[in-house]
Amino acid sequence: MAPSLIETAESVTPVQSKVQERSLTGDWRDDFFRDGYAVIKNALSKKHAQQYQSDALTWLESFGLGFDRNDKRTWKKENLPQNWKGGMYLHFSAAHEKYMWDIRCDPGVIEPFAKLWETDELVVSFDTVNITLPQSIVGEYDSTPWPHVDQAPERRGLRCVQGIVNLSEAGPKDGGLVVMKKSAPLFDQFFDENPVKGPTPWRTAKHEDFHPFQEKDLDWYHSQGCELIKVCAEPGDLILWDSRQMHWAQFGESDLIRTIAYVTYTPAKWMSEEDRLVKKDLFENYETTTHWPHTNLFSHGKAKVEVDGQEVEDPLERDEPITKPIKTEKLLKLAGALPY
Ligand SMILES: [Fe+2]
Repeated sequence: MAPSLIETAESVTPVQSKVQERSLTGDWRDDFFRDGYAVIKNALSKKHAQQYQSDALTWLESFGLGFDRNDKRTWKKENLPQNWKGGMYLHFSAAHEKYMWDIRCDPGVIEPFAKLWETDELVVSFDTVNITLPQSIVGEYDSTPWPHVDQAPERRGLRCVQGIVNLSEAGPKDGGLVVMKKSAPLFDQFFDENPVKGPTPWRTAKHEDFHPFQEKDLDWYHSQGCELIKVCAEPGDLILWDSRQMHWAQFGESDLIRTIAYVTYTPAKWMSEEDRLVKKDLFENYETTTHWPHTNLFSHGKAKVEVDGQEVEDPLERDEPITKPIKTEKLLKLAGALPY
């Protein structure tokens, strides 16, 4: 099967050109454009970040499966609702809990994206929370690295910048993000020299903007002078990375519960009215989407379990968050539910 060609949002091009022609700013943006990532210190205060982590743990305890943050004997995989890669909650309206929207609406989180895209009129992804219990206590996860980019090879240029709001410590021994430093600017060159051929089974609606790499591809990036970096950050720090940057998540050796919120903002004008209506519908149904805020809008659907060989909805699934966000005008515009 040949790789499918995707729409490449031509309207993005003028902004993209402007970004590429930038001169040095003397701030974190210089790091970002050179290295493909940057850490913005104290986007949230440490106190706020710790409160949001507490909210996330309260949410995890709300399923009544036995997990209690204060009793490490209860830190077991079987005491948690279903998740992906050990801690990403794609269901249960997790992305729409009030604390998640409080994070997305916080000026300290929005401001770096506004600066990057040079507009205050942004839309945000309905990414989710990642709460990963330490493998030193719950046992090993499948920790095989999964180096990838979250941008389809056909979608050339800078189109999306992803973010992690750290609610817990991400030191050298803690779980965290690994990036191939300086790989983002080499995206087009890599795929020119290594065109995607053959079956692409990962290419589904949900994973349209995704490409997994093989070991030899890491060698290619290393030969270009790139290096693997474990990104360290403190509670309240915002990590930004270009969606063309090779990356993956690494499990930690410490006994901390890795707690992060994924946030991605792009200019609202990049979203078509058709896509906005899709996004509005997803928002109103408390669905979780991909990292992309303005396009590639697909739901992860309801959580499923198998009962007697039949796939049925997970009885733990929820139609709405337990604490709903306050739908302010700002929130509704970020959500795409209201146009600017
Ligand atoms: Fe990713």
